[in-house]
Amino acid sequence: MLNITPLQPLFAARIEGVDVARGIEGATMATLRDALDRYAVLVLPSQVIDDPAQIAFSQGFGALEMTRPGAFGAGSAVIVLSNIGPGGEIAAPSDKQLLNNKANRHWHHDSSFKPIPARASLLSAREIPSAGGNTEFAFMRGAFAALDAAEQARLRGMVALHDFGWSRGRVDPTLVTEAEKTQHPAVRQAVVLEENPYGSALYLGAHARSIDGMTEAESRALIERLMAHATEDRFIYSHRWTPRDLLIWDNRAVLHRATPFASTTERRHMVRTTVAGQGPTIAAAA
Ligand code: OGA
Ligand code: MN
Repeated sequence: MLNITPLQPLFAARIEGVDVARGIEGATMATLRDALDRYAVLVLPSQVIDDPAQIAFSQGFGALEMTRPGAFGAGSAVIVLSNIGPGGEIAAPSDKQLLNNKANRHWHHDSSFKPIPARASLLSAREIPSAGGNTEFAFMRGAFAALDAAEQARLRGMVALHDFGWSRGRVDPTLVTEAEKTQHPAVRQAVVLEENPYGSALYLGAHARSIDGMTEAESRALIERLMAHATEDRFIYSHRWTPRDLLIWDNRAVLHRATPFASTTERRHMVRTTVAGQGPTIAAAA
């Protein structure tokens, strides 16, 4: 029996009564997909899984993205977020890991810089630090619903440019390569997503650079005001990890970010799979 317990007044729920390693039957999988639509963040405690089991379970939510070049796990369906080196010891991060770690601390939607951005991400905690290293979520349907009707109407139909090279350059200009910038040309995304049965969501995050038809200054002012609104306490769920938690989040309904921990003395090893989006956020993406 599946047991669903809400974790926050607006979104996020804890799911008990499933054992991912044993495989999930069709009806239960359908319930989980509905729960993801409804709650946007699902916490499945005590899931002892390896990478193949995580991949198989993740595919129940849709086809998976392959990890982009420049990330740990590139060319496979898993992306590894870890401070553990090949010898099993805490390792000094490579330049690339350092950049990825720093970038993850900014509110973002995974893959919003891709022409068809991700639907969901699944993150499995294989090892966690004794303190810090929470993952935080901001509920973008709640943030949209709290805007007044005039502003909602104004935002519907707006298009934002999401630019990976630009956002990485803001995090650390010395660590982003020209090759990466050309690999990920800026893409156009809707500012309001209307695809979820439970309501419309704001869609912005760290890669959102500018708004079609606005100057750079107007764009930054609007994006930063909406981001500040969306990340108010009332829209946040902060997840304190327990070893072997498996989290699933809907990138088209929440922002997320990593929080710091003592990364030179404490171990943290996380494995992520990413469910591809079913289509672009706007029909007429150029
Ligand atoms: C991710 C991510 C945050 C964290 O896996 O996409 O942003 O806390 N992770 O590790
Ligand atoms: Mn992420």
